[in-house]
Amino acid sequence: MSSNTEQIKEKLDIVDVISSYIKVEKAGINFKARCPFHNEKTPSFLISPVRQTFYCFGCGEKGDIFSFVEKFEGLDFKGALETLANKAGIELKNFKKEDNERPDEKDKMFAIMEAATKFFENQLENSKPNLNYLEKRGVLTNSVSKWRLGFARDEWRGLCDELTKQGFSKDEMLKVGLIKKVDGEEKYYDTFRNRIMFPIFDVADRVIAFSGRALKEDDKTPKYLNSPETKLFYKSEVLYGFNVAKNYIRKLDYTVLVEGQMDLIMSHQAGITNTVASSGTALTSLHLKKIQKLSNRVIIAYDSDSAGEKASRRAAELALSSGMEVKIVTLPKGEDPASIAKEDPEKWKTALKESKHFTEHALDKAVAENKSKNLAKAIMTEVLPLVHLISSEMEKTQFVKKIALKTKVREDDVWNDIKKVPLPNTTETIKQTTDSLPEKINLERIIVGLIFAEEHSKEKSALREEWQKIIGEQEVNSKLANFEGNKEALIFEAEMHIAPGDIRKIEDEILRRIELEYLKIELQKLATILDSQEISEEEEKDAKLDFKKIEKRINEINN
Ligand code: UTP
Ligand code: MN
Repeated sequence: MSSNTEQIKEKLDIVDVISSYIKVEKAGINFKARCPFHNEKTPSFLISPVRQTFYCFGCGEKGDIFSFVEKFEGLDFKGALETLANKAGIELKNFKKEDNERPDEKDKMFAIMEAATKFFENQLENSKPNLNYLEKRGVLTNSVSKWRLGFARDEWRGLCDELTKQGFSKDEMLKVGLIKKVDGEEKYYDTFRNRIMFPIFDVADRVIAFSGRALKEDDKTPKYLNSPETKLFYKSEVLYGFNVAKNYIRKLDYTVLVEGQMDLIMSHQAGITNTVASSGTALTSLHLKKIQKLSNRVIIAYDSDSAGEKASRRAAELALSSGMEVKIVTLPKGEDPASIAKEDPEKWKTALKESKHFTEHALDKAVAENKSKNLAKAIMTEVLPLVHLISSEMEKTQFVKKIALKTKVREDDVWNDIKKVPLPNTTETIKQTTDSLPEKINLERIIVGLIFAEEHSKEKSALREEWQKIIGEQEVNSKLANFEGNKEALIFEAEMHIAPGDIRKIEDEILRRIELEYLKIELQKLATILDSQEISEEEEKDAKLDFKKIEKRINEINN
């Protein structure tokens, strides 16, 4: 005897249900619509007829027919159940308590994160050396408690034992990413060991993930280790510090965007309470939408090194293309907001005051780095694409004037050039499926999404096996585990690139690109070996042979 919900789901199709409320159109193998749960011009709301689910890339809303109707009609679960039973022509029979209340697994997940946070906080309070470490880094005591910093001891099962004592199960701990299981054995160990713990909060100040900073830096583990994606933690949505900053961004009418946890804490401590951090993940349009709702202006203050510079250019392009006003802070080489604010909070405030429009910054940079002969070209490639993205015509005109002045070219010619340059590749709206994949996409997310989709349909995933051949089984397992909690979103994300009947082609292209990327890294490694002084003749011969082999494979793939 199937339950009420199952019966209803058998009768009703999610595409029909949703299209009885809003306009829905076909998009590849899925359907898309303008999201009814937030304001948007271009559709980012997707519906899967195969999985009978929906997901919005704009606001993160997701679920099945029941959650859709609940949310759309403002009903509780029982109300939605009745509405849909009516639609399906089913009489609700022996209404069970389970039908009334969805067991809320998320509540349990929040509870366990809270318990872990308290445990880590306690351990920090009792650890003089670690309190000293934070003090040395300039973190004041009230910041420690405000951000609920903690410490995970150098032990294998400290947290696991404590949570067990408090009555949580291993499964529950696994689900929030706090422990890991040894492959093939009933053995578990803590994810975070010997690290300063930074809890990551949602807008309601609940802890949804952790980032742990290593106290011993080595090559084996990352400096900052982050929780895997879980049902609570979707990396491309969460900004560290947003729970506090959201109260100030609107008032001050701008956001300060930094890279790291330490930058964020030190910036808030210096009184810049409208600071948020992208903390390690590449900035996405979902992050931006969060802050753009509160203010259209953003100041980007990433690290002053080449990685930081690249990341800020990408972030700036993304923000400009969402119509935001973008400024950038330049810090002395090797510094970051945390180091400046620690040295002197006033210095950090001054740096923010001196921030420049990103386009102007790019123009100045082009002028400083190029002799007049190359300047026109540099401006064409580095600056004009940015001007193209500016949505305010007035601002645009100002920049054209500036460029004309600096390059001694007529304004009309600059305008003509702008028409010729391609837009930076940042738009993340749903693409109509194309024959091939765009150049700049996150291959890893897509392949993971496709594998989840295959496994969802209970197929043995051929793609997974192919991928394992390239990067190894363990790597693949750990990458999949990292996204385990957000299957649904990842699948939708991947499916955007697929036209009906076209999956094979896309899969082949992804594998080809992933293998190329992998081989290029291997080549670089070999090049480093060959460059080193201490290499023996034997080793040199081997490395050269490997090098040739890889080159040959790259050529094969490319042709
Ligand atoms: P940084 O390496 O610039 O960190 O990475 P930081 O803030 O200056 O670190 P400290 O001052 O040495 O403690 C910036 C951010 O990138 C993420 C973290 O969020 C970090 O704060 N990150 C960095 C990772 O997620 N993993 C890493 O291994 C390194
Ligand atoms: Mn840094």
